[in-house]
Amino acid sequence: MTTWKRVAGITLAASAAAAALLGGAAVYIGVYDVSATSQHTAFVYHLLETSLRRSVKLRTSGMEVPALDDRDRIINGFRHFRAQCVQCHGAPGVAPQPFALGLTPAPASLVDAARHWPAAEVYWIVRNGIKMSGMPAWQYRLSDDEIWDVVAFMKVLPALSPADYAMWSDEHAPLPARDETPPASAPEPRLGDAAAGRKALQQYVCVTCHAIPGIVGANKHVGPPLAGIADRQYIAGVLPNTPANMLRWLRDPTKVDPLSAMPDLGVSEQDAQDIAAFLYTLRDGE
Ligand code: HEC
Ligand code: HEC
Repeated sequence: MTTWKRVAGITLAASAAAAALLGGAAVYIGVYDVSATSQHTAFVYHLLETSLRRSVKLRTSGMEVPALDDRDRIINGFRHFRAQCVQCHGAPGVAPQPFALGLTPAPASLVDAARHWPAAEVYWIVRNGIKMSGMPAWQYRLSDDEIWDVVAFMKVLPALSPADYAMWSDEHAPLPARDETPPASAPEPRLGDAAAGRKALQQYVCVTCHAIPGIVGANKHVGPPLAGIADRQYIAGVLPNTPANMLRWLRDPTKVDPLSAMPDLGVSEQDAQDIAAFLYTLRDGE
């Protein structure tokens, strides 16, 4: 290696290390302002925007899109949109709710989103959500078919005036409360899968109350730690620890113990089976 190459290499490595050190120090001292009232800088904004676009594109290439112009589909999509999306994103003539106005990044108007995101990408975003923004993942709350319904509605959204939107709201009754029957498009039920359960845990806020080994950020002690739950004799001190009782507890803790501080979280049968499969991997001494 020639001398100048070596010098250039050392200089580059040294400046990278200095930058990392400086960044680390800034984080540690607390200079970075995390408040939702301080805007992202233009640099951070573009970085996030570009990551979002590229990430979604990579994950949707070749995805098959079902027919979206069916009238029933569009109306069903409207009913879900009104139940789950308007609160944050607003609609023609409808402002977002006060809590949503305080989010950073602010939820975009979906009139615009429907124009510049292809249908497959909208589907992916709605199904998976966007980390570190306020955008929730809907796959644990809506079936795939229902998500496509919402996408179908979003395609007609840009053409609706505030008067049209108000008319739709009058014409179409709100969705009834969810019953327990799984959606028609649900795949065949399968035996509990621990890996799926580990993922599902994060989608039912379990991590905000329990310390759970192997789950990053699950270090709260509102409820008992779940380490070694597989070897415990009782669930919550009241139910013998069998798989059937675990499913009962996960789906309906307040039916087991009306005074429990653990709320009913709307865990589906399949998700409860997966979560139980994961919990039974948590043995004593691990
Ligand atoms: C709790 C508030 C909240 C709810 C509820 C919500 N969103 Fe979002 N959504 C956000 C935020 C925040 C973003 C990220 C900022 C942004 O890019 O708009 C976002 C982003 C999006 C995007 C990407 C928009 C773009 O142009 O970048 C789409 C599409 C979207 N949401 C659709 C939906 C749909 C459909 C629903 C209902 C099923 C929904 N959202 C419910 C907060 C929410
Ligand atoms: C708001 C807080 C809260 C949330 C969210 C919560 N739990 Fe709990 N959980 C508790 C409390 C508190 C108990 C203790 C029982 C009681 O006091 O009723 C408990 C008990 C349990 C037990 C029995 C533990 C033992 O030692 O016997 C299990 C298992 C459990 N929770 C799993 C979960 C799972 C899985 C989720 C997510 C689907 C979850 N919890 C969400 C608060 C919570």
